[in-house]
Amino acid sequence: VRQRLLETAPDARIIASAPGRVNLIGEHTDYNGLPVLPLAIDRRVWIAARRIDEPTLQVRSIDPERYPGEAIPLVALAARAPSGTWVDYVVAAAQRRPPARGTELVVAGDVPPEAGLSSSSALVVAAFMALADPGDRAELADEARCAERYVGTLSGGMDQAISLLGRPGHALRIDFRPVRVEAVPLPADLAVVVAHSGVRARKSGAARAGYNARVQECARAAVELGAPAGGLLADVPGEDRLTRAQQLDDPLLARRAAFVFAEAARVAQAVRALRAGDVEQLWALLNASHRGLRDDYEVSHPAVDALVEAARDAGALGARVVGAGFGGCIVAVCRAAHADGLVAALGSDAWRFAAAGPAVREQL
Ligand code: GLA
Repeated sequence: VRQRLLETAPDARIIASAPGRVNLIGEHTDYNGLPVLPLAIDRRVWIAARRIDEPTLQVRSIDPERYPGEAIPLVALAARAPSGTWVDYVVAAAQRRPPARGTELVVAGDVPPEAGLSSSSALVVAAFMALADPGDRAELADEARCAERYVGTLSGGMDQAISLLGRPGHALRIDFRPVRVEAVPLPADLAVVVAHSGVRARKSGAARAGYNARVQECARAAVELGAPAGGLLADVPGEDRLTRAQQLDDPLLARRAAFVFAEAARVAQAVRALRAGDVEQLWALLNASHRGLRDDYEVSHPAVDALVEAARDAGALGARVVGAGFGGCIVAVCRAAHADGLVAALGSDAWRFAAAGPAVREQL
């Protein structure tokens, strides 16, 4: 991808790239202030930047038929409203790092879009990296999370943090407020396989509405369970908060909040299982996560459930819907020796991912 991009943008001065991610466990916990356990993947969004004479920000892709570009006069950048296109993700960053002079950004990438692998946050992070030095990466992760609200999703910060802080061969336990990471080595005999259900999980339309509704339901549950006004489920006091969540009067809020507390506990258990090399335990945790996401959090999809079953039949130890859900991909873990067979059984839209490194900014 880098090579193709440099052919399209031969006089680029900066080239930046940012990885997508797979989340092992800890789904829909981040916006509740609770931890996640993702890994950066070896698929990236790349952006080449160069100075241009016109006082505009030119955003274009190497695939303009599919992703048409846009030229935004620098004086109009701050006031540009979201247009519902891919360019919004670049503008989200550019409004916070406005170029002093005319700049062209050329975008390429191989993170599968609408798959729950966070191509959109990779694009936001790559744009930040193309426009300026990252500075403190944990702080930038939080700023990128806020920036992404520009596109209308109330996302929680996992995707930006893993893209900026990922470590090869490791999953990261990420905590929030402020962003903190603990790198957890992945056992050598563990393979992480991702497969697409064929149902597109768009960060727009119904999936976004469903996602934002979950954010709001959790915020309501948090207050009912004693968090201060404006607080999150992480702010709910008491060791017994899972039990109290199950007893909430509103059965919908009870299911949502109980899932989130249980899922957060699974993150800690998964870290222990990985450190102990206990793959069987990890398997049980992933399967429990999928059940909760399907039945209590209601973010799965029949096609995704079928794929989870197919993965287990084909030798996966554990499998579950990954990312926001509402379609998209599953993540499956298996022993390394079974990975090729599992990928083959899951069809052409399946990949094995190695845990990759973080976003990079290079001067050319
Ligand atoms: C999306 C959001 C993340 C996170 C996941 C669900 O990917 O961008 O912040 O909430 O959904 O875990």
